[in-house]
This record gives sequence, structure tokens and C-alpha cells, in this order.
Amino acid sequence: MILYINCCVRAESRTDRLARAVLQKLGGDYTELKLYKEKLSPLDSKTLNKRTELIEQGDYSDRMFDPAKQFANADTIVIAAPYWDLSFPAPLKTYIENIYVTGIVSAYDENGLPVGLCKTNELYYVTTAGGPYDPTYSYGYIESLAKNFFGIPVTHLIKAEMLDIAGNDPEALLNSEINNLL
Ligand SMILES: Cc1cc2nc3c(=O)[nH]c(=O)nc-3n(C[C@H](O)[C@H](O)[C@H](O)COP(=O)(O)O)c2cc1C
Repeated sequence: MILYINCCVRAESRTDRLARAVLQKLGGDYTELKLYKEKLSPLDSKTLNKRTELIEQGDYSDRMFDPAKQFANADTIVIAAPYWDLSFPAPLKTYIENIYVTGIVSAYDENGLPVGLCKTNELYYVTTAGGPYDPTYSYGYIESLAKNFFGIPVTHLIKAEMLDIAGNDPEALLNSEINNLL
């Protein structure tokens, strides 16, 4: 199963267009999770306490764990998020808080080191940027989580950048990246 995690808010989102090209190249059906429709909440004291208690009991039956199970069971993951403030929009961070559940996506071995539990083989991070793209706080962060904690061995960055620079032709830049994929 391909899981498409869509964190694009604008109706005419260029990041979403680039991600659809990635999905087309991957072929097959995909399940789309629209983060702006899902309205997941950041962990607060109530949900964090509840979650900690359930994890301690080894009880993962609560619906609060459904997003983590869906993430861990995907064969391929495509995340689309525009480059915002050197990073990505807040709903993606909220999503990560919700899916990063010890015992579902990750565990600790006898030496206290993280071991990934995800079945996922590949993760694609798709983004577009108005200026030059620095991956440190977006793709770099997701890549580190995927490889070091979730057990996802291969990650890819797909990007189009410099789209909002005066004098640039954003359509041509975006289409060139799309054509490179297809
Ligand atoms: C709230 C916000 C923050 C942004 N921050 C940055 C930024 O830090 N660096 C940059 O190069 N572009 C930035 N941009 C421009 C977007 O990255 C660019 O327009 C992108 O293509 C938007 O993607 P979309 O078409 O999928 O919405 C920002 C745009 C918005 C709306």
C-alpha cells in the first residue's frame, strides 16, 4: 500500500502537483491522508498521559493509535509539504507527534537503542520552495526519523525550488521537475 500524506493547503498547490507526478510514476493505488482535513491535535497533557498509560500496558487498541498503525503498515510513503519558514507547515509536525508511538513505529532494544518497526521500504519527501531550498529542518529531519528510528531504509527528496524569485518562470521550473520524473 502506498500512503500519500498530503500537507498542502493551497488549492493550486505546486507541491501537490509534484507529488501527484511521483505517485503516477510509482503506479498503483494509493491511500491519501489530507492533513488539513484530518485535523489531528497536538499532544496535550490529557492525550499524552492517556497514551503513555496505554503504551505502558501494551494496549494499542485505542483509535488514537490508528494513524501510527497505518503509517507503520505502508509499503511506500509519499509526504508532500511546501517549504515554509525553513521547514514545513505545522500539521505535519502534529502528524509526526501522533504517529511516533513506541511499540508501533519504533521500539528500543536491550541496549536502549532505537529499532524501527515500520514495514515501509521507501519514503519520498516532496516539496517546493519560493527561494533556494535548504533540507536541514524538513527533509533532513524526516530522513533522520525514517532511517534512525522508524526503520525505513531508503528516502528520496523530490523538489522544485526558486519558484517565487522575480524573473523566474515557476510553471517552467515545476514542469521541468515533473518531466524529469515521468
Ligand atoms: C507561510 C509561508 C512560508 C514560506 N516560507 C518560505 C521559506 O522559508 N523559504 C522559501 O524559499 N519559500 C517560502 N515560502 C514560499 C513557498 O515555499 C513556495 O511558494 C511554495 O512553492 C509553496 O508551495 P505550494 O504551491 O505547494 O503551496 C513560504 C510560503 C508561505 C505561504
